[in-house]
Amino acid sequence: MPDSDTRLRIAVQKSGRLADDTIQLLRSCGLDVDSQRRGLYTPCRNFPLDLLSLRDDDIPRYVHDGVADIGIVGENTVTEKGLPVARLTGLGFGECRLMICVPIASGIASVDELNGLRIATMYPESLGAFMARLGLTCEIVRLSGAVEIAPMLDIADAICDLVSTGTTARVHGLRPLATVFSSQAVLIGNTDSQADPSRRALIRRLMIRISGSLEARGRRYLMMNAPADSVAALGDIIPSLKSPTVMPLAESGMVAVHSVIGEDVFWDVMEALKGAGASDIVVVPIEAIIR
Ligand code: PRP
Ligand code: ZN
Repeated sequence: MPDSDTRLRIAVQKSGRLADDTIQLLRSCGLDVDSQRRGLYTPCRNFPLDLLSLRDDDIPRYVHDGVADIGIVGENTVTEKGLPVARLTGLGFGECRLMICVPIASGIASVDELNGLRIATMYPESLGAFMARLGLTCEIVRLSGAVEIAPMLDIADAICDLVSTGTTARVHGLRPLATVFSSQAVLIGNTDSQADPSRRALIRRLMIRISGSLEARGRRYLMMNAPADSVAALGDIIPSLKSPTVMPLAESGMVAVHSVIGEDVFWDVMEALKGAGASDIVVVPIEAIIR
């Protein structure tokens, strides 16, 4: 019997790269959560969910140990920690790559040239595994932050760190040399929570909301009026308009055409739609698409 008193705990990043997007995602799912989370623990007011705000490095451990049922964290952190947790879904934000970067002035041009050198990182396990796969060795200098200044301080010859826009590397005179892996924010789950019926049901409800919100991202709802005999031509202009909703208008020979469209596509084809006879074109945001 599912227990109606069950509340889920979700571990989220307290501050840092993923914190704002995480809260924005939860709010886009209709969850009433404070954007200003002061304490460790914030209850959601309209869903049986409590937020635990933690350091990102600790999230896989808390989820693995069952302190939290689920968590939102960078895949990079999950991979580095190596703890068995369920990777439930990618979340499409926090995209970055774990990369080895070298000082531009070093002239190092290939990964092979790193053999035997010192590489500073917050990701010793991921780096060690990467170098071992290539049959190379290196001296791993373990740091807990500000990795990009290590070559300048001459405590390392290269670094292995997250690169998103590439700005941090560039302003420190570093050049990306090799990608260890690509990463994004992911939803992870405790394996026992998946086995508990009440918790599993809540996680499922939450995941339906999350996928609904993710599906809606970058899409708009398009409505326009057009002569009935131009519907085929409109379909040629917008290939994604496979099966639009077509409704007759009071004016004979005219129809309303409704469809979902990528926002980037819309601006490119707007004039062509008008040229094909469409008028009164309206584009509105979509909150969620539940499949
Ligand atoms: C990461 C990384 C770099 C920066 C790269 O730090 O350590 O400093 O982002 O981003 P860029 O390529 O867009 O410049 P983060 O903000 O995650 O902080 P942390 O390393 O202290 O967790
Ligand atoms: Zn961090």
